[in-house]
Amino acid sequence: MVQATPFLLLLSLALVAPGLSARKCVLTGHWVNDLGSNMTIGAINGKGEFSGSYHTAVSSTPNKIQLSPLQGSQHRINQKSQPTFGFTVKWTFSDSITVFTGQCFVDEHGKEVLKTMWLLRSYVDNMKDDWKATRVGINVFTRLNLQME
Ligand code: BTN
Repeated sequence: MVQATPFLLLLSLALVAPGLSARKCVLTGHWVNDLGSNMTIGAINGKGEFSGSYHTAVSSTPNKIQLSPLQGSQHRINQKSQPTFGFTVKWTFSDSITVFTGQCFVDEHGKEVLKTMWLLRSYVDNMKDDWKATRVGINVFTRLNLQME
């Protein structure tokens, strides 16, 4: 019995520990970020590529916000359960482009979270203004479970 205790401990650790990260983080679906922006990511193809759409809650321009397309890719999910990814949003209502890079995590409650950083490049008329043309920030996305009635 004395010898069995460390064995049982190891056995239970081996059974429980993989369960902590066993749930896969899947990019496909509807997401909302800390600014209230919404994005939809479509199916991931065999090369890990995807497309989708983005509706930003905020803008650096006075233009009317419109749904904009995104294109991205991720590392294949069968290789890692919490894949890294990147995508580009080409804004349809401004001359700006945003690139996001991040990782899809499953938190301690089993909830999927996208931790991202972004660079927003705005259009400037003159090279002298290049220094102020790129903003940087972070966004955290959580899954939006849309209910059908
Ligand atoms: C623009 O301002 O020209 C286009 C809209 C940019 C929205 C930015 S992208 C990074 C940040 N995260 C969001 O969800 N929206 C802002």
